[in-house]
Amino acid sequence: MAVLNVEPDAGALALAAAQRVAALLESTLGRHPDARLCLTGGRTPRDLYRLLGDPSGPFASRIDWTRVHLFWGDERHVPPDHQDSNYGLARPLLVASTGIPVDHVHRMRGELPDAKEAAREYDDLLRAYLRPAGALFDIMLLGLGEDAHIASLFPGNPLLAPPEAAGTGSPSGQEACERVVAAWAPHLGTWRITLTPAAILDADRILIITAGAPKASAVQAALQAPDAVSRWPAQVLRRAGDRVEWWLDRAAASAL
Ligand code: 6PG
Repeated sequence: MAVLNVEPDAGALALAAAQRVAALLESTLGRHPDARLCLTGGRTPRDLYRLLGDPSGPFASRIDWTRVHLFWGDERHVPPDHQDSNYGLARPLLVASTGIPVDHVHRMRGELPDAKEAAREYDDLLRAYLRPAGALFDIMLLGLGEDAHIASLFPGNPLLAPPEAAGTGSPSGQEACERVVAAWAPHLGTWRITLTPAAILDADRILIITAGAPKASAVQAALQAPDAVSRWPAQVLRRAGDRVEWWLDRAAASAL
């Protein structure tokens, strides 16, 4: 059963989530030589990243960024300096401000003309980071779309079907072992690069951070609606049980 945390407003949510991520990073670095933090895109995490990465903030002395590796759960098909880039969102807040080693920042190359090539390249990267035992990621951060999408897994994506339901075990012709795919977002008319459900779930802790009344129905569907994962992609997190933590403000939790 997922863990539910509800904070009064978006500001309190960002601080509470930052405290949780900092504690998880500290705990991970106490057990592993490095900590793998997978970032989400979208606007919601902006304040969280600012708090975490502030060199004069409350977390600066608690996180040894020289031992942290940053990954991304998805990326838009744009260059890193584009206003829509998920890497571009985090760069000033968590990359430039923390002095994290450059070779610890593993962005998806959304600038490649072929999004499938960017996905293949990132899939190869993740393969190199597989641990002999244990999860690929220590902390997975996710946001939630109003349609209950996570990363860039939008409703109807064939990868959402449970592996056994997919029959071949490799939905939509994808290799079952793939952790990263290029996904066409029909409603946006653009490609995205995204982790697959299997890769998203390959994390010790999965924190989904969501704020605002417009997300309330998606939160309710993800947590309480009958299983319909193709319609409500965030329901895929039901497969991860208590490894999942929902971090909400009161408005986003208002339909529960
Ligand atoms: C992206 C994200 C996506 C995001 C949700 C919520 O690339 O957009 O990975 O899954 O988390 O769409 O976005 P907001 O935080 O902007 O509402």
